[in-house]
This record gives sequence, C-alpha cells and structure tokens, in this order.
Amino acid sequence: MNVLITGGAGFIGSHVVRHFVNKYPHYHIFNLDKLTYAGNLENLTDVEQASNYTFIKGDIVDTSFIADLFAKYKFDAVIHLAAESHVDRSISAPMEFVMANVVGTVNLLASARDTWSKDGQYDAKNIFYHISTDEVYGTLGDTGKFLETTPYSPNSPYSASKASSDHFVRAWHHTYGMPIKISNCSNNYGSHQFPEKLIPLFIHNVKNNKPLPVYGKGENVRDWLYVVDHAVAIDTIFHGGTLGDTYNIGGNNEWKNIELIKLLCSIMDKKLDREPGTSEKLITHVQDRAGHDWRYAIDSSKLMDELDWRPSVTFEQGLEKTIDWYLTNETWLNNVTSGAYQNYYKQKYSER
Ligand code: NAD
Ligand code: DAU
Repeated sequence: MNVLITGGAGFIGSHVVRHFVNKYPHYHIFNLDKLTYAGNLENLTDVEQASNYTFIKGDIVDTSFIADLFAKYKFDAVIHLAAESHVDRSISAPMEFVMANVVGTVNLLASARDTWSKDGQYDAKNIFYHISTDEVYGTLGDTGKFLETTPYSPNSPYSASKASSDHFVRAWHHTYGMPIKISNCSNNYGSHQFPEKLIPLFIHNVKNNKPLPVYGKGENVRDWLYVVDHAVAIDTIFHGGTLGDTYNIGGNNEWKNIELIKLLCSIMDKKLDREPGTSEKLITHVQDRAGHDWRYAIDSSKLMDELDWRPSVTFEQGLEKTIDWYLTNETWLNNVTSGAYQNYYKQKYSER
C-alpha cells in the first residue's frame, strides 16, 4: 500500500511517519511537506534511509503539482496533517491559514477523487484520513467536554480554517462517496515541537533565564496528550475506524496553564540543579491572546470503547520525557530557532 502522509516533517507528522515506517515495512510511506518554518527533516534522520520511505518537498496549495503527484505515485491512502498550526500566527496572518488549511485540503481531496474514483467506486484500500483539532468545537465553560456530536463553533482564524477543512472532507464523503475518516485531537506535547507553542517555548526560556510570557491570568484550561499516543491513535483509527466517522482523541488530562507552568518550572529546577522556586520567578503575565478560548476538554470514550485505545503515559511522565529531550537536543533547538535547518534543506531540495 502506498500511503501519502502530508506534513510529515512537522511535530506530529514526524511521529506519525516514524511510527508507520517502522511498524509497517510492507507499506511505502511518502512524506509530502513544504518545509515551512515548522517542518524540519532533522526530525526524521532515524528513518530517512529506510527502504519503505520517500520524502517529497512540495506545497499542497499547488493544484497542478498535487494532481501530477497523485498521477505519478497512485497513492492508495492519505493521512493529511499538513497545515499552518499556530493560533497566534493565525491572528496576525489569517490568509496563510486559509490557503494551507482550506485550499490545500481541497486540492488533496480533488486529486484523491480523480485518482481513486471510477464511477463513484473506490478500492477497499482507499482512505482519506484528515487530522484535525478539538478547537473546531469552540470553547467550554467550567464544565462539560467536547463530544463528536458537539456543534462546530470555531473562534480563531486557525480553528475556523480547520473547521472549514473538516467540512470539505465530510462534503467529499457525502457528495462523492469518498472513504474518509476525521479525528479531532486535543493539545499535543512531546519531542520535536517548534518552540513557539507553550511547552517547548517555556522549556527553552527557562533554560535561558528568559521571561515566561503567560497570557492573561493563566487560568485558561487545555487538555494535554503525549504526541506518541496521538500517533498510535491515528494508526488505530486508520486501520480500525469506521469510514465516514469522526473520532475525538484526548488524554483526559486537563491543566490550567498556570498550574502546568509551575509544574514545568519545578521539574526544570531539579533538572538544572537550581534552588526550588528559581524558574517560577521568570513568570511574567502579558496581554491576553485575542479571542483566547477559555477551556478545552475532550471526551474520547468513542475511541476508547470502540477501538480500545488508551494513552500510554501519565502527564508527569510525558512532561519529564519531553523536558529531557529538549535538554539533550540543544543543537536541534538552536538550529530551528535560528533557521539553520531551513537554509540547509532549501539548498538540498530545489524549490518548485
Ligand atoms: P506543525 O506546524 O508542527 O507541522 C505542520 C507541517 O505541515 C510542517 O512540517 C509544515 O512544513 C507542513 N506544511 C505547512 N503548510 C504546508 C503546505 N502548504 N504544503 C505542504 N506542507 C505544509 O503542526 P503540528 O502541530 O504537527 O500539527 C499537525 C496537524 O495536526 C495539523 O493539521 C494540526 O491542525 C493538527 N493538530 C495539531 C495539534 C497540536 O497540538 N499541535 C492538535 C490537534 C490537531
Ligand atoms: O487544542 C489543539 C490545539 O492545540 C492545536 O489544534 C493547535 O495546533 C495547537 O497549537 C494548540 O493550540 P493552543 O493555542 O491551545 O496551544 P498553545 O501552545 O499556543 O497555547 C496553549 C495555552 O497556553 C493557550 O491557552 C495559550 C497559552 N499560552 C501560549 C503561549 C505560546 C501562553 O500563556 N503563553 C504563550 O507564550
């Protein structure tokens, strides 16, 4: 089976690529990625020589490029992760999110249909699996959880673009019979995440004695999942989920930002041999994010009950592994923040 994974050089995508390349040697995994600031082939050095792995540099927004790619490789299935993913960037540059997340998704759907559908018939191997976010459901008050049936109510340009792409995927199923699956996951954390998101940014700043910019009072709540557990959930849904269905993925692990940051600071004090309380002094309350969603909490009982998926680590275990990874991969961190990898790979792969 030829499986196209988009966005495989990014944070979650690189974990998904690694998982599929290693676990399914009889599949050929094609990783299509534009290598934006967030995509980094250094994330995949351990699999780049594998005989069942091919990297393709390219932009999902480029309609003719995507059509040619499907015609050439005849992908059997798609796991679609490529996207602009950071809420703060979507507030300052929303059109980039419309292009990558909406137009890019529709390009992939159109080419998949052209390649797969013979008079509305699809092969049993064909799946268009779209990786989405719990942010499409909007924000919660102090109680309740997002279910698969929760109405969409996206609040940021990022979540609006992801909600739109979810709707297009569902429309391709309803209108053209495309065999699709969608999953909506909560906040991921783990190795190889670009240090603009809360956890890697704060690890980086603590290490360098820089201020920790907490938005508002820091009382907003997020539901955190270890990225390796997300990759396993994607595998579980890809192979076992029902066509046409949506699955929520989450770790049942809610944290107020400020409590999470204090836990992170206390682990960092131990790791860096600092006096208890040292890192917490770096906390600086800054202006709140515009339209900041109050609380996310995901009910993943459908995935747990139907497909028997469970998270493998507690948050404390996952956070410690993550901190250890960042502390031992200083070169990676310095290179992604300075853009050094991007310059190297720009030369290695010609621009289209
Ligand atoms: P990321 O920003 O780390 O990686 C995105 C990848 O997509 C990068 O490698 C980038 O180069 C690539 N990309 C962006 N635009 C592209 C384009 N036009 N053509 C080809 N490649 C392009 O993102 P992430 O955090 O790994 O998220 C991956 C997916 O999972 C996204 O769809 C995101 O919405 C979703 N998601 C993320 C989280 C999270 O907590 N990070 C949670 C739920 C869902
Ligand atoms: O819920 C899933 C989503 O989680 C994914 O779809 C997104 O791609 C991913 O980026 C993430 O979105 P968030 O906005 O929740 O993640 P972020 O790490 O940016 O912020 C987490 C919380 O921390 C949020 O309440 C904002 C706050 N925050 C964030 C940053 C970067 C701060 O207080 N200070 C910061 O500097």
